[in-house]
Amino acid sequence: MIKKYNVPGDFSSLTGYDSLEEYLKLKIDVHKDSDAYWAKVAERIDWFEKWTDVNKTNYHDAHIEWFTNGKLNASYNCIDRHIKNGLGEKTALIWQSNDVNVSKNVTYNELLVHVSQFANALKRSNIQKGDRVCIYMQMIPEAIVAMLACARIGAVHSVVFGAFSSDALKNRINDSECKLLITQDNGVRGTKHDIPMKENANNIADECPSLEKIVVVDRCGNDVAMQEGRDIYWHDFIKGCDTVCEPEVMDAEDPLFILYTSGSTGTPKGVLHTTGGYMVYTSHTHEIVFDHHKDHIYWCTADIGWITGHSYIVYGPLSNGVTQVIFEGVPNYPDFGRFWQIVEQHKVNIFYTAPTALRALMKEGDDFPNQYDLSSLRVLGTVGEPIKSPEWHWYFQTIGKEKCPIVDTWWQTETGGVLMSPIPGCVPTKPGSATLPLPGIEPALLDENGNKITEPNTTGFLVMTQSWPGQMRTVYGDHQRFKDTYFSQAPGNYFTGDGAFIDEDGYYWITGRVDDVLNVSGHRIGTAEVEGAIGAATGVAEAAVIGYTHDIKGEGIYAFVTLMTGVEPSDDIKTDILATVTKIIGPHAKPSVIQFCDGLPKTRSGKIMRRILKKIAQNETDDLGDISTLADPSVIDSLINK
Ligand code: WT7
Repeated sequence: MIKKYNVPGDFSSLTGYDSLEEYLKLKIDVHKDSDAYWAKVAERIDWFEKWTDVNKTNYHDAHIEWFTNGKLNASYNCIDRHIKNGLGEKTALIWQSNDVNVSKNVTYNELLVHVSQFANALKRSNIQKGDRVCIYMQMIPEAIVAMLACARIGAVHSVVFGAFSSDALKNRINDSECKLLITQDNGVRGTKHDIPMKENANNIADECPSLEKIVVVDRCGNDVAMQEGRDIYWHDFIKGCDTVCEPEVMDAEDPLFILYTSGSTGTPKGVLHTTGGYMVYTSHTHEIVFDHHKDHIYWCTADIGWITGHSYIVYGPLSNGVTQVIFEGVPNYPDFGRFWQIVEQHKVNIFYTAPTALRALMKEGDDFPNQYDLSSLRVLGTVGEPIKSPEWHWYFQTIGKEKCPIVDTWWQTETGGVLMSPIPGCVPTKPGSATLPLPGIEPALLDENGNKITEPNTTGFLVMTQSWPGQMRTVYGDHQRFKDTYFSQAPGNYFTGDGAFIDEDGYYWITGRVDDVLNVSGHRIGTAEVEGAIGAATGVAEAAVIGYTHDIKGEGIYAFVTLMTGVEPSDDIKTDILATVTKIIGPHAKPSVIQFCDGLPKTRSGKIMRRILKKIAQNETDDLGDISTLADPSVIDSLINK
């Protein structure tokens, strides 16, 4: 029997859910008339013009549409609105640099000036509504300013995670034909002060035909190669620009941003989110999931390069007028107490991080957190992967002193915001379960034949039977791929790609991806991408990668590699494989284990049987399951005997 945790405390004054019963009743009401519910939720943000219809989604056509004809601006909602409400002098961002001694506060008034001036500079450079702008930066305030400036003028940003390689950056710039790139001279993280951001951009700029300009933040004062006519420093770019910029009136369904994410096949997909539904959904969920009150200090440790940064650093929190910490550094610099030192220093009330970070910190013992005053903490969140019992309990006891609810938030780049999570103080938690869907979210579990599973204690494919405002609208430039990926497996439903288990209380337990997508330290990586990158290394014939259970990363990458005839396995080849993966994708996609082998287990039609490789990697070779479809059963012995 898994223990349920009810957390005492006054958590529900804002959301109005005072008990589980009330909350469950609300869900039944929402189920009866979801349009009425979402119409009410949508009033939380400012619209220039109200919508005419709430929801015109049709899953059978893969058509998602919310708040038809509504007009708004995301940057207006994140900044101007709060200033109009008298909060201009409130701190919006507390930027904590990698350096312990350096932090900087930015008020909403200041944010407006920075965003407006940068927006005017973009316009002066002929960036127009609908144009794509790539942002390749680390966690510095200018990254957020750049995103909001794009939103202000209706340009569509595409943020590329700062650890991605030149090649990955190039592919993303080219896929969405970005006209302008915003980056910084160097990145600073932990002991590294020379992450080659501009250099990475320089390496590929000539291979990006759409790219006209590169704007460079002078983060480090380092000398980096600048090409005349194309490259310009941020401070020169904004020189002479007015600090007032009227926000562009955007339609609810005008694109807000593109964010690339990995799938089971092909190149990463450009997930497109639009303005109205996304703003409503991130704003609403940020408030209810974290029980965010106006005077709270909030800190999400994610990077803006991922959806968590978009939804729960930029658009959700800022639309709620938050005061938040943004952190440039890493959890283990100068030591493993850094997170807790920041919590104490900035009196953080709401803290949101990833299980992988908790595992890494837990391993270093309790002395680090115990040195700091963590009494400001009120709600603790996790995201990105299932949180297992040891780190859940450590988070709950050692960090939260058994006073803070843990909100295990399940969602995806595609969903825009959290779909399942306990509501603090109202939904009892169970370690490892994302508990219940939020109001208006209608999940179902399907069996192999696409039939709905109604029995508790069963595992199935997790789908959503109804849309919600924050749902992605399309794969940029490839609507057919959107249909094929998400709406073909179970027609009439959104297919999440995750498996889940539902228990007798109706609680969901995410069991992980059911497709060939890996989750390494909460980073989503496609097996096909890694295999392709390994295949590009000299001497490699073929590669198959699978995820295996890894203590810290959750999932580690295990690569089985066959070499060209006549090429002998060696450490040099391993080194080259790692370098090639780093070059093509980035260091986070490097395999933890490389095993050379003579052949890969394949079906007669040539499909790699990853199920078998998984067993071999996990040392579960006694029971390999059904191997009767293998084209050449003898490869198994050679794989095991290595
Ligand atoms: C995949 C989505 C959502 C922002 C970060 C990741 C896994 C995410 C949880 C959770 C179990 C989780 C799923 C999902 N995942 N949150 N709380 N419990 N699994 O976004 O890169 O789009 O990855 O991450 O497998 O499908 P993403």
